[in-house]
Amino acid sequence: MRVDFNVPLDDNKKITDDKRIVESLPSIKKVLENGGRLILMSHLGRPKGKVNADYSLAPVASKLAELLDCPVTMAKDCVGTEVMQQVLALQDGEVILLENLRFHPEEEANDADFSRELASLGEVFVNDAFGTAHRAHASTEGITHYVQTAVAGYLIERELLYLGKALQDPERPFVAILGGSKISGKIDVLENLFKKVDTVLIGGAMVFTFFKAQGYEIGNSLVEESKIELALKILEEAKNKGIKLLLPTDVIVAGEITATAPCHAEMITKIPDNMIGVDIGPLTVEAYRNEILSARTVLWNGPMGVFEIDNFASGTMAVANAMAEATAKGATTIIGGGDSAAAVAKAGLANEMTHISTGGGASLEFLEGKELPGIAALND
Ligand code: 3PG
Repeated sequence: MRVDFNVPLDDNKKITDDKRIVESLPSIKKVLENGGRLILMSHLGRPKGKVNADYSLAPVASKLAELLDCPVTMAKDCVGTEVMQQVLALQDGEVILLENLRFHPEEEANDADFSRELASLGEVFVNDAFGTAHRAHASTEGITHYVQTAVAGYLIERELLYLGKALQDPERPFVAILGGSKISGKIDVLENLFKKVDTVLIGGAMVFTFFKAQGYEIGNSLVEESKIELALKILEEAKNKGIKLLLPTDVIVAGEITATAPCHAEMITKIPDNMIGVDIGPLTVEAYRNEILSARTVLWNGPMGVFEIDNFASGTMAVANAMAEATAKGATTIIGGGDSAAAVAKAGLANEMTHISTGGGASLEFLEGKELPGIAALND
């Protein structure tokens, strides 16, 4: 079973967010409770094809043992004679976690021999690594050529259910909230969502490229000069398609992006010369909240501001709160992973959303409408 145990670790190798492990438990338990012999494999970080103890999956094995309340054998490698012997020694209902796949350059190169070697360890291949499904690597794509049965696990099923339904058949009104610093990073998502969405709320530093395109002064705020025309095209396209695209009417500005910098709200027509926009303002929060509360489906990808700094986090936290309220009112609320998932966790509202994706890059590519090779390769 390929899982995505690429979890954040602190300096003491303590896992700071175990969501990806927890979300893999239904598939893991299904195999173990049915008496299967489970071989788990994952990458952790980017060790660049070399063995590096800093990227060992050993802390994950301990965490998994704790969560499952049963022993988890940690293998020293992911291929080779010793690993094969450990795998053959497994008894029904036992689990082994292979060492970081990316200690071998063949993993990311999607090498055929390496894929075949991984495949030889088991009889059935389950892919439950949604977070890595956008990578055509040996353990996600290559391996499927050397097994008869290659199926999706419950985590992938759940991700496809929520993200897929939003893109194909959302309950309306369907509101998408897009944030982040660059239009270039979100343009493909925007284009794809334009096919389905009723309303788009824009936040994050990318708003300043829109403002500049509309002729406003934006002070020292971040801008993508090369995307100014694209911003105008997006606004035009939304208009032509009858999509309600909202930009902030006010923003929080600060002289610098530091935790102690004083900040205040300004209308977007009055951003001072020397100031930087760092968050959406209170009038915008109110307007966005109303849109979120009138939706039946809400999809959120990308923070509204520099939410890592508490003084600039109000807009992002308010969106998280409004989404929690929308969930309570019966709407389907979906967090598209990455920074927005971190923001929801910071707001303490992770249990108040319908679905929080475990994917970062993978959910983004899925929302862009791209095929995910790790999923496309499965035969069931
Ligand atoms: C992720 O965290 O997005 C996945 O685990 C994929 O990791 P990668 O970007 O290093 O391929």
